[in-house]
Amino acid sequence: MRKPFVAANWKMHKTVAEAVDFASAFTPLVHTVTDVDIVVAPSFLALPALVESLAEHKIQVAAQNVSAEPQGAFTGEISLGMLQASGVQLAIIGHSERRQLFGETDGGVNAKTRATLDAGLTPIVCVGETLDEREAEHTFDVLNRQIDEGLSGLTPAQVTELVVAYEPVWAIGTGKVATPDQADEAHRHLRGQLASTFGQTAATACRIIYGGSVKPANAAELMGRADVDGALVGGASLDPTSFAEIVTASRPGDR
Ligand code: PGA
Repeated sequence: MRKPFVAANWKMHKTVAEAVDFASAFTPLVHTVTDVDIVVAPSFLALPALVESLAEHKIQVAAQNVSAEPQGAFTGEISLGMLQASGVQLAIIGHSERRQLFGETDGGVNAKTRATLDAGLTPIVCVGETLDEREAEHTFDVLNRQIDEGLSGLTPAQVTELVVAYEPVWAIGTGKVATPDQADEAHRHLRGQLASTFGQTAATACRIIYGGSVKPANAAELMGRADVDGALVGGASLDPTSFAEIVTASRPGDR
């Protein structure tokens, strides 16, 4: 049984003070939840403050991006060593906004994923098709390419450790959520693709979470699908009550 995994992706929202306020309001709402892995990904600036305020509640903190380079002349970048020294345990890699707005490629995703695993952090690797790709019936081809190239060279044991986030680009921030059937179909396809490359054991253990307009009102139905192991939540994670409701809806007993 895969443990549900629910992560907040705050994108470019919240100052450090606002992040700490969120933590104070959120932690009492989920203090009894031990059967879901809860993760918050704030801006880089708020990472240390959130590590400090969330660690005792067993809530992990993720970076929204990371450099694959260990150090050097890379203005504006943040290394895995820096994240590690701040107590950060995970990194989101290849979010569609990074791919679309900042030119990230599958090769870049691969380098970052490998470096993140080598550093002992957990990558949350994002994949997903655009609306044009879906309408042209290329969804599975796109997912296959993103998995094959993005996870190239990984061992089955490493695939067991990472989290794949299926985020159809047309559902992100649009209010247009994938139907549970659409999500389930894509997740099953992704798990099959993982199985064919890395073996059934790794594919069965790897958590595949859904992202794209997840809200308290639709979370339970999405999480109820066998291959949907959690959620990556943008807009609805900015409010502590709404994010707590999504976490609660993802508990194994509530699905
Ligand atoms: P959304 O964002 O929940 O606001 O659609 C999800 C994401 O981009 O991770």
